[in-house]
Formats: sequence, C-alpha cells, structure tokens
Amino acid sequence: MIKAASPDTIAEAAKLLRDGRLVAFPTETVYGLGADATSDEAVARIFEAKKRPTFNPLIVHVPDAAAAADLVDITGTASLLADAFWPGPLSLVLPRKDGSPVSLLASAGLDTIAIRVPSQQTAQAILVQAGVPVAAPSANASGRISPTSAEHVAESLGGDVSLIVDDGPCPVGVESTVVDCSGGTPTILRPGGITVEQIEAVIGPVSVSADTVTGAADAPASPGMLESHYAPAARMRLNAVSVAADEALLSFGPHGLSGSREERNLSPSGDLREAAANLFAMMRSLDRENGVIAVMPVPDRGLGRAINDRLQRAAAPRPGH
Ligand code: TXA
Ligand code: MG
Repeated sequence: MIKAASPDTIAEAAKLLRDGRLVAFPTETVYGLGADATSDEAVARIFEAKKRPTFNPLIVHVPDAAAAADLVDITGTASLLADAFWPGPLSLVLPRKDGSPVSLLASAGLDTIAIRVPSQQTAQAILVQAGVPVAAPSANASGRISPTSAEHVAESLGGDVSLIVDDGPCPVGVESTVVDCSGGTPTILRPGGITVEQIEAVIGPVSVSADTVTGAADAPASPGMLESHYAPAARMRLNAVSVAADEALLSFGPHGLSGSREERNLSPSGDLREAAANLFAMMRSLDRENGVIAVMPVPDRGLGRAINDRLQRAAAPRPGH
C-alpha cells in the first residue's frame, strides 16, 4: 500500500489517478489525498474516504500555470502572485473558466476554483504524468491532524486509498496559503506556507479573512467561533506559561518550563520554519486519549501565523464534546 517514490511508483500513481482511483501523494506542505478533479465519481470518493460531513471545496493541483489557465481565469494580481510563488505553497481562488472541465463537486458548486502548483518533485512528476488536474485535500480524516509523512496517511486513511506514495517528511509542514483573488482586494482565507509578509511584498496590502486566526491584539478571534480542525484526541491548552506533571508540553525556543510528562520542542533555537515543519508530527507524537497538551506561545509573524491558526483550530471546541 505504501510505496517509495520511484519512477515505477510515480507511473502507477498517475495511472491510478487517470482510472478514477484515490492516491495519497507528498507535497512540500502536507500529504494530499488525490483524485481526478474532472470526475465527479473520483471526487466523491475523496469525501467518502475523509468522511467530510459537508462538501467543502477542494484545492485542484496542476503542474504549472499554463495548465491552471485551462481551468480558471488568471489575471492582474493573481498573475503577479502566480509568477512570484508558483510552484510553491500558494493556492489561488479564481473564477472558473467557461467550459472548465473541473467537477462541480470539487468546487462545491462555487463559480470559483482554488488552484495550486506544488513544487515537491514527486508531486510534480505525478501531475505531469497523470495529465489531469488532481483534486487533493490533506490526506487525513476530516477534522483531524494533517499528515506530514506516509505513515500518518496510512494510520488515518490506509484502507480507503489505492496507493500511498512515500517521499519522506514534508519540508514546509503546514498547508498552502489560500488567497482569494476572485473579487476586489485579494483576501487571505487561510494563512500557510507563503507568509502574509511575502505576499504583501509583491502585491501590497491584502485583507486577512476574519475567519483566520491571527491571534493579533487587533483581531481577537473567539475560539468559540472557530471550526474545530487539526484536532488530536488530547485537549490542547494554548499560551502555556507553566506545565503540570500530567501534561505533555509542546514548547518553542529556549525555556525554563520543566516537569511535564513528555516534551517536544518545535524549534529549540526559535526558528519558525523549523517549527512549522515539526508541528503536526509533534502534535501526533504527544497525543494521548484524555491527555492534555500544553503549548507555549509562538510569535505571530511570518510562518507563526499559520502555526497559530492550526493550534487555535486544534484547541477549538469539538462537535460532541
Ligand atoms: O497545502 C495544501 O493546500 C494541501 C495540499 C495537499 O496541497 N491541501 C489542502 O486542501 O489543504 P484542503 O482541502 O484540506 O483545504 C482546502 C482549503 C479549505 O480551507 C477550503 O475552504 C479552501 O481551500 N477552498 C477550496 N476551494 C475554495 C473556493 N473555491 N473558494 C474558497 N475557498 C476554497
Ligand atoms: Mg485539511
């Protein structure tokens, strides 16, 4: 089921995708659960496997901007962003082109489509050989922690996937930044691997959707309003300045907190890039049913915004709890 990325495995993955099957594959951000984005039936399999309660729109993956231009209209600001950050961890929400072959189920019936060109070389090779756009959400059960290794995928979706392509841990570790360029001012719908600062350096000020968690003093988002997501079985206690003996500690940078039952440091030197890459794997390794994970504060700049967004959603109240 898990096969190491090799020319044969990549060819098999491409064929399975063309045949309408589900293939989990690595990207620079997280592992994706891919299906032919032009097939309603293949896309429906994604929702089934993830047990998504509602038909959220999916990100459609293509190998380059030329392939994207067959599916959506890329103009103005969007082309600037595509030129600057593709291939890479950026998804652009753009108007669906007339005659676009993308399944309406993939875009949840919207007249826009989120498009991404991943840079990871195995993802690139699979997309080129598949020759169809590939819809791919993160390859985890709905609401749970995103996978940054092939083993994570196998743990959460193993039986439902035709093939899991293993190319080691994901270097970025948090999902792509989603920017809505379908209307007026570009809006960041989800902070991710390309930072707000990087985007503003290219196109000037953008707005950040009120739904994304900045944790910034000027935009205090109520955790009660957040959709639970990225959730471990354990309870998450954020902004910890102390830790109890029965708690696990997810720390950041040098610190003096001692006495936790177990600790992982996102980055002992306080590097946000390293912290993002470690985030999901460390949350998983500290996870324990009925446990508590105390999390030290992470600075809310650069990749710290994406990290804090994921932490706050992981800590949000869960349905049925
Ligand atoms: O890094 C990533 O983006 C990963 C890897 C596998 O590429 N994919 C991923 O997909 O995170 P998913 O399905 O877990 O997240 C899709 C996000 C959701 O927040 C969804 O609401 C948003 O993109 N989205 C998709 N299509 C949209 C649309 N047409 N309009 C607005 N938001 C959209
Ligand atoms: Mg996801």
